[in-house]
Amino acid sequence: LTAASAGVAAVNLFSPAESLKANQLKAISDYNRLNIPPLLENPYARRYKVPPMYVQDTLYEFYSGKPSSAVGISTLYSQSSYLGPTIKVKRGDVVDFEMYNLRQEEVTNHWHGLHIPGYIDGGPHQVINAGEKLNTTMHINQEASTSWYHSHTCEKTAEQVYMGHAGMFIIEDEHAKSLGLPDIYGVNDIPIIFQDKIIDDTGQQIYDTRGKPVFLGDKYLVNGTMNAYSIVPPGWVRLRILNASNGRDFEIFFLDERPFWIIASDGGFLNQPVKKESLLIAPGERFEIMVNFTDEPGIISNFYAKTIIDLQYEEEFELLCLVTSTIPGPPTTLPEQLRSELIDWETAAANAPAVTRKFNLSASADMSEHYINDKLFDMRVINHAIPIDTYEVWEITSTSGPHPFHVHGCSFLILSINGKPPGMEYRSWKDVVHHTPPDLSPGTPPDPGQVFSAKILIKFSYPTYRNPKNPVKGKEAAKILANHMPYMYHCHFLEHEDKGMMGQFTVYHDK
Ligand code: C2O
Ligand code: CU
Repeated sequence: LTAASAGVAAVNLFSPAESLKANQLKAISDYNRLNIPPLLENPYARRYKVPPMYVQDTLYEFYSGKPSSAVGISTLYSQSSYLGPTIKVKRGDVVDFEMYNLRQEEVTNHWHGLHIPGYIDGGPHQVINAGEKLNTTMHINQEASTSWYHSHTCEKTAEQVYMGHAGMFIIEDEHAKSLGLPDIYGVNDIPIIFQDKIIDDTGQQIYDTRGKPVFLGDKYLVNGTMNAYSIVPPGWVRLRILNASNGRDFEIFFLDERPFWIIASDGGFLNQPVKKESLLIAPGERFEIMVNFTDEPGIISNFYAKTIIDLQYEEEFELLCLVTSTIPGPPTTLPEQLRSELIDWETAAANAPAVTRKFNLSASADMSEHYINDKLFDMRVINHAIPIDTYEVWEITSTSGPHPFHVHGCSFLILSINGKPPGMEYRSWKDVVHHTPPDLSPGTPPDPGQVFSAKILIKFSYPTYRNPKNPVKGKEAAKILANHMPYMYHCHFLEHEDKGMMGQFTVYHDK
């Protein structure tokens, strides 16, 4: 059940003392070993009853010896005093969850990126009260990809995610396995959960957004580790990067300018790897990248990021120090072709219907309220009732700067960002589209009057009936909350979401 420790121990490639050179050991002595969230998986069965998960108030040492209050999600087989375990399932599996809320306050748990019906989506309507539990059974029916789960509690999402209520969710499938990509979790297939924080002198993490439009910290963490190193085998290494920060865009690069190959984004593989030297990642987004250390055994690579505020580069910091072991790992490759079913973006874009729905994002002058189509989020209002299995084009404009827009229950194709076709790295299945163009020009001040825009091609394959055994079909019924457990669309800057920039929709069958 807990393949994490077992898997890593069995491979046993990279015990630092044996596989590193003296100069490497010296160089990494200033770093902390990267925390790898425990892995929950059951590779040998089609039904996986995940061990009960406990959301708990915990103490976690961001600085060693200085415990901070935090939130972790533990099971009988895995302790996590910050963040939750990584869940790995296979396409076709039936997966059962039992999540206990042992905190003092209500929580929710949303499965971000999963194609599952509304009644188990885990949005703000699906509250788990303090001391209660929620059972969820889901069919995994989507391609290999990196998703995640996190709190989505009404007006508390930002703080609860910040405290640690989040984790990674990996889907595998037969095709992905046949590609020969690195897939040994924590060894050559490494989760990178990025967050920023404010940590005070006593080591306490502080959630404070005063005077700022979103939470922006000055400490940068990967999987809860500050100043982290990780030992990797020489050869291809796959990094699964999730921006789980509340409101921080960041752009990754390697200090030695080595290229990397983007192989997947939110909802699955790209057609072919896309070679880049830097990549912007917005809150909620995932990218899988491949980095090659083949010809350079025993080196240290500094994996960096630039942070961005108001369309301007702010500062650079080291995300992770990657140290190549001298002991080779299992053979892996970077295939030329990643998908068996290619995404024909050109044809999809050429045949897309006219704009079906428009969402304009804006804010009050003091930025304390954030609106979609001039309205604050209202849990009692269904903003849209959407027919199932129908292609729509959504246009998301903004008069209050760029926003990463996320839609529940589906993946979509990005048709354009600010009027231009998206770069090749965005032409896979997505569930977050960000307005910030990837070609920031440093030093150019943002134009305060700029209107941002994006268009997406979207289709929903799952309905939102509150009671799936007794679906009340038809459009009129889909406007009534008693019949449906709606999906959300919102800005993934979590403070914007909590302060109104969210709406809800139902998905229905015609009679
Ligand atoms: Cu990542 Cu509505 O969520
Ligand atoms: Cu926003």
